[in-house]
Amino acid sequence: MKAGILGTGHYVPDNVVTNQDLEKVVDTSDEWIRTRTGIEERRIAPDEIDTSDMAYHSAKMALDEAGISGQDLDMILVATVTSDMGFPSVACQIQERLGAFKASAMDVSAACSGFIYGMVTAKQFIESQTHQNILVVGVEKLSKIVNWEDRNTCVLFGDGAGSAVIGPVSDHKGILSFELGADGTGIPHLHQTDEDFIHMNGREVFKFAVRQMGDSALNVVEKIGLSKDDVDYLIPHQANIRIMEAAREKLDIPVEKMSKSVHKYGNTSAASIPIALSEDVKEGKIKEDELVVLVGFGGGLTWGAVALRW
Ligand code: ACO
Repeated sequence: MKAGILGTGHYVPDNVVTNQDLEKVVDTSDEWIRTRTGIEERRIAPDEIDTSDMAYHSAKMALDEAGISGQDLDMILVATVTSDMGFPSVACQIQERLGAFKASAMDVSAACSGFIYGMVTAKQFIESQTHQNILVVGVEKLSKIVNWEDRNTCVLFGDGAGSAVIGPVSDHKGILSFELGADGTGIPHLHQTDEDFIHMNGREVFKFAVRQMGDSALNVVEKIGLSKDDVDYLIPHQANIRIMEAAREKLDIPVEKMSKSVHKYGNTSAASIPIALSEDVKEGKIKEDELVVLVGFGGGLTWGAVALRW
């Protein structure tokens, strides 16, 4: 028995903020943002929608797709760096709203790699056969910690949530391999400041991301004795189209086999991979028995990848 995905869900706020809108806020241009990042617009949540609200909506969709209710959950893991408050966790907040009263609940802090960290944690509990259904959510309201006067960062990020229900699947399916990593020496390049804003050394993060995304994506495939030619679909963290393209080129797969939503949502950190996954599932882009690689990187620095058979 392996741990696999039983259902997916996503939620993004209705409010669209385009590059042209940001031209009025900081000294930037649609042309600069599009050519450097691939981002055209992003969703920004209003004050009345906080992180836990977005997490709840995406979780509901994932539970419905899996055909289970909150009462069937044994654990809730929420990957986020923008929780509603220091404590309780977002996981506890949605446990109550989902009526998941037999589920344990905690948040995972690994920035943009958080959803992969959550999936790999869920896998351990499922495969040790102590847990049956685990909800993993990636959610961010990054607009809360963006400095809207800093053009280096404010054009990059967006808000949203994605979820997956992880549970037992047959032996040849599900999560076949994973890689997780961290490098705390990279903290100066990407962290939250005393004023609670995102600070980023874009060029350093870019260099790290290009190297790590390609390496990790390839590592999880080679760990199961396969090669890049066996990969059917790639879901990279949606931070920057140039970084995503570097990972795609390393795996040598065609453009249409890489998930892409960075143009419409920007970088939603921990939410980016599960939003992409959920949208791709609904659009029928991932087919039965395909080998799918999910790969991400983020603040920490952290990184993670999984190879799974759909
Ligand atoms: N509009 C116009 N000019 C800008 C803007 C902007 N929005 N932002 C920066 N610039 C300027 C800078 O001031 C700099 O000017 P200077 O050279 O006069 O100092 C110049 O543009 C930098 O240009 P490039 O070097 O060409 O920029 P680069 O190609 O490195 O792209 C970017 C910058 C997009 C930030 C890139 O480095 C990147 O994507 N890095 C990775 C970021 C990332 O993915 N972070 C994810 C982590 S998020 C998390 O974990 C929460």
